[in-house]
Amino acid sequence: MKTIGVLTSGGDAPGMNAAVRAVVRTACSMGMNVMGIERGYNGLIEGVVYPLEVRDVSGIIHRGGTRLFTARCPEFKTEEGIQKAVDNCKKFGIEGIVVIGGDGSFRGARDLSLRGIPCVGIPATIDNDITSTDYTIGFDTAMNTAVDMIDKLRDTTQSHDRCSVVEVMGRHAGHLALQTGIAVGALSVLVPEIPCDIDNVIKKIEITRKTGKEHFIIIVAEGFEKSAHDIAKEIEAKTGIESRATILGHVQRGGNPSVRDRVMASLMGNAAVELLRRGVGNRVICYDKGLIINRDIFEALQMTKPLDSDAYRIADTISF
Ligand code: ADP
Ligand code: F6P
Repeated sequence: MKTIGVLTSGGDAPGMNAAVRAVVRTACSMGMNVMGIERGYNGLIEGVVYPLEVRDVSGIIHRGGTRLFTARCPEFKTEEGIQKAVDNCKKFGIEGIVVIGGDGSFRGARDLSLRGIPCVGIPATIDNDITSTDYTIGFDTAMNTAVDMIDKLRDTTQSHDRCSVVEVMGRHAGHLALQTGIAVGALSVLVPEIPCDIDNVIKKIEITRKTGKEHFIIIVAEGFEKSAHDIAKEIEAKTGIESRATILGHVQRGGNPSVRDRVMASLMGNAAVELLRRGVGNRVICYDKGLIINRDIFEALQMTKPLDSDAYRIADTISF
């Protein structure tokens, strides 16, 4: 393969820039050309495509966001949309594409591969909800951002003897909430995967109150059945403890990537280009038991990834 494209798609994640850099630098070192595609599949449909050289990706390894911009592109799911994308690949001489994003973006990559444009996916989302991989780029930075903010929140929660109910992102998955909850020593972690009656949280508050606990941090994943506001109201009404809801929101998606995200992005970016160089597409780069491997994109999209139930149980045990 002589010319490949690279795009970032779906919600941005810290470390996407490091992945783009690794793709460009690896490809250039092998004598391949790289075309940057802007704003995910939109750029492919609209032809917003330009060459990226070695120096075009200087000074971005430490930056959050994505130099290529990102977007969600409903048109790509239509027959006309994907046909325009395929036509533009031909027009710009793009023979294969590295798609940096989540499972949604990989479905797009699968569809392009089926139409003769081999694609390789690199997992990047703060949610860590991509089923085929133990780790996704951006997860570590997002957890550290959340922990940093909750540490600050704890100061004021403690001063006022309050209960803080903190909503973290994660879409339909509780991975971000669970790991963050463990790291801040939350009293309870509420996740979409495991049903939990708020009365059990209230019982735990009452039990720990009797042993001297005076302030409480509850973490709730955005995909949990009840909102942070409703949970805070319920806790205040039933315990009399002043309660506040805090939604961390999109700040979790920003910031300089952590060491882990920079390194993972660099290794995965390199691995993706190695595949395309050999003409191998229709794959997803995955982190599996400490190794960077690749899987067939169809198989990858069929996989499931349960929440770490041992970690959930331990989080509960050590927060009494
Ligand atoms: P993520 O990649 O983070 O999971 P999305 O689910 O929003 O994010 O998907 C990003 C983009 O990938 C969508 O806007 C769309 O362009 C493309 N995409 C998502 N699902 C599909 C699908 N089923 N078929 C083709 N393309 C898809
Ligand atoms: O997938 C990343 C993510 O930040 C999720 O955690 C969240 O549910 C969603 O994207 C928010 O999307 P948007 O940026 O469109 O509000």
